[in-house]
Amino acid sequence: MRKAPLGVFDSGVGGLSVLHAIRELLPNEDVIYVADQAFAPYGKRTKTEIIQRADAISKWLIAQNCKLIVVACNTATTNAISHLRNTHTVPFVGIEPAIKPAALGSKTAVVGVLATEGTLSSELFQTTTQDHAKEIEVITQVGHGLVELVEEGNAESAQAEEQLRKDLAPMLKHPIDHLVLGCTHYPFLSKTLKKILPNNVTIVDCGNAVAKQTKRLLEKHHISSADGGNTTYFSTAIPNKTLWGLFGVDEVNHMTI
Ligand code: DGL
Repeated sequence: MRKAPLGVFDSGVGGLSVLHAIRELLPNEDVIYVADQAFAPYGKRTKTEIIQRADAISKWLIAQNCKLIVVACNTATTNAISHLRNTHTVPFVGIEPAIKPAALGSKTAVVGVLATEGTLSSELFQTTTQDHAKEIEVITQVGHGLVELVEEGNAESAQAEEQLRKDLAPMLKHPIDHLVLGCTHYPFLSKTLKKILPNNVTIVDCGNAVAKQTKRLLEKHHISSADGGNTTYFSTAIPNKTLWGLFGVDEVNHMTI
């Protein structure tokens, strides 16, 4: 079991932001990464559809002998993680908007969250926000077309800057001092975001926290690997070599589920 791979999945290339953190902290683990690009973006899908996709991919990863699965997608985590945990015995690590660290670090007590519609409308997100309602004000904003821009390899384009300016304008009327990136695609927009955000706004991304939690769970279950380190990539769409190349990935296998 120790030598079995970790499974990591997202709707597309967004989860690579989490994978990078996992690779750094856990260099000896083999990883199977699945991008569900044939069904992306998840953000506009119904809860039922998101659960179906997350479940199908998890089953497939379990069939590949994965010992632990990282749901490297806020939309899938906030909509499907309890279903996944109730259905499968393998441990799951999820990712959700990091409101807590932002709340702890905020001086203005106003924090922004940029995420997909699917994440912001989920019960899990609503509950987490409520838990912090006494300490801070949370200003939410749906990112329009941002996942698509990253999936097209246009994260640093003029179009991305224009769209981010539009999306962030209402939020920036409030005195936010932290912007929580509630979608794993958004860290790839960081360069563009820095052009737009006032200097006092800290960008919060929780890829590192997910990697730490993965390490903790591997240790708790005594399933950490001492040798390994290969990553194998799969996409449910015909892989776009140019796009994956932008993310430093040379070989992606096509799979259908
Ligand atoms: N990267 C995902 C997330 O963290 C999914 C985005 C999407 O497919 O809409 O929410």
